[in-house]
Amino acid sequence: MRSRLVVGNWKMHGSIESVTSLLAELQAATSEFPKGSEVGVCPTFVHLPMVREQLASSAIRIGAQNANAQEQGAFTGEVSAQMLAEFGVHYVLVGHSERRQLFAESDATVAEKFLAVQASGMTPILCLGETLEQRERGETDTVVLAQLDAVIRVSGIAAFAKAVVAYEPIWAIGTGRTASPEQAQAVHKSLRQHVAAQDEEIAAGLRLLYGGSVKAANAAELFAQPDIDGGLVGGASLQANEFIAICRTAD
Ligand code: 13P
Repeated sequence: MRSRLVVGNWKMHGSIESVTSLLAELQAATSEFPKGSEVGVCPTFVHLPMVREQLASSAIRIGAQNANAQEQGAFTGEVSAQMLAEFGVHYVLVGHSERRQLFAESDATVAEKFLAVQASGMTPILCLGETLEQRERGETDTVVLAQLDAVIRVSGIAAFAKAVVAYEPIWAIGTGRTASPEQAQAVHKSLRQHVAAQDEEIAAGLRLLYGGSVKAANAAELFAQPDIDGGLVGGASLQANEFIAICRTAD
């Protein structure tokens, strides 16, 4: 049985004050989260030290939003996977569509990052998703499976025993327009079948998260789908009440 996972992606949001109070509210609610489920938050790099300190005795896991694949070197402005691992980071988002679209990350770069994150002992959350135009042209499966294959080619299918995949349709991110549970389930099913064609056991254990305008009002019906194992939550993860309500539905 796959354990449920809800991860908040804070993107480029937060101040010392807002992060402190958001974490305090989350920690106060941790006992209400379903047993066996997992919750994580991905703050900005600059907030990581304080998040680590505040969550020191908490079950809430820490994630990062990005990592450089190189160990160290003259890469101004970058943070390596190794540095994050030393900080106790558990998850790293890899290939988020905002990184792919706004920072020109190619499939090859994403695959390198995935490899580096795992090599440092952390769990990559590989993000995949199609644009609205691609969906309307009927290319959704082709696009997301190609994004997945780019990583499988480099890391091998066995790497997915210790990875998470998040399906985030680009047209649903930050738009308030959520994929319907049926639309999301159809893509999740294709992803799982694709992995199963190479390794059934890994496919059965692989956690597939849905992301894109997840909120308290739609989380339960999304998470009720057989191939949706939780959510990657953007905007709603910045509001304690919303995020807590989403985490509560993950049983
Ligand atoms: P929203 O939940 O704000 O749509 O963002 C989704 C997302 O990009 C999470 O990584």
